[in-house]
Amino acid sequence: MGSGIAEVCARSGLDVTVVEADDAGVARAKAGKLDAGERQAAAERLAFTTALADLEGADAALEAVVEDEVLKREIFKQLDATLPDAQFLASNTSSVPIMKLGAETSHPGRVIGLHFFNPVPVLPLVEVVRSIMTSEETLERATSFAEETLGKTTIHSQDRAGFVVNALLIPYLLSAIRMYESGFASKEDIDEGMMKGCAHPMGPLQLSDLIGLDTLLAVSQSLYEEFRDPASVAPALLNRMVEAGLLGRKSGRGFYDYTS
Ligand SMILES: NC(=O)c1ccc[n+]([C@@H]2O[C@H](COP(=O)([O-])OP(=O)(O)OC[C@H]3O[C@@H](n4cnc5c(N)ncnc54)[C@H](O)[C@@H]3O)[C@@H](O)[C@H]2O)c1
Repeated sequence: MGSGIAEVCARSGLDVTVVEADDAGVARAKAGKLDAGERQAAAERLAFTTALADLEGADAALEAVVEDEVLKREIFKQLDATLPDAQFLASNTSSVPIMKLGAETSHPGRVIGLHFFNPVPVLPLVEVVRSIMTSEETLERATSFAEETLGKTTIHSQDRAGFVVNALLIPYLLSAIRMYESGFASKEDIDEGMMKGCAHPMGPLQLSDLIGLDTLLAVSQSLYEEFRDPASVAPALLNRMVEAGLLGRKSGRGFYDYTS
């Protein structure tokens, strides 16, 4: 998600500094999908580093590290100290309450959720998530950034687990996994059914693999924690697959095999 967001920002003419955890992360982030001409143009606008301090002086920050609340809180503490004059500090989190990230900073009014969709260069939606402390000014700046600067379409959501889209989508994906787990239908037929019967561009098990099964599990847990709806309980199969490292496309295997 981070490289997709960086790509969209660079294509929109912004100077972007990508902060990764280590050199291997930097190498992965550099291997984007730009063609040769775009790569040349974007290369002038994209910088890569492993030091968060290199963000000093940036107008805004967009955080998209792994879905780990402790790590995200730590990063917001550092962003707050590194960027005292930034217009807004945004998180792409799918499940950590924006308020918890804001609470780590000295100005929770400038912390907001900007939730992009995968693949970022293709899907137009950004959910703008305002915490109970996010200021009107931050809301306007972040919405205008997503719409006018990046050309995205925004919808607004309360700071509730899942926001709008995942609160509807995740219980559906979990139902498909339960259906497959119980032997009710094959994975191919479940996916084919939703594509051909409901005109979805991909089936629920293919979409789960695209989202990443660890991310799907993390979001389902946060939905259950917030609403206690049994529809958000992760099926045992999802837990076992994440424990096995079968995370979907990004690990090469999930419900389907992507290695061949
Ligand atoms: N996958 C999706 O469909 C999707 C959609 C919307 C939002 N999100 C959210 O985006 C975030 C990232 O998800 P992803 O699927 O891209 O995960 P991912 O595991 O593919 O990528 C996470 C990246 O964060 C980097 N990272 C880890 N620790 C870091 C640190 N301390 N500093 C800098 N970088 C660090 C990792 O090296 C990795 O490149 C999560 O919060 C997730 O909930 C994901």
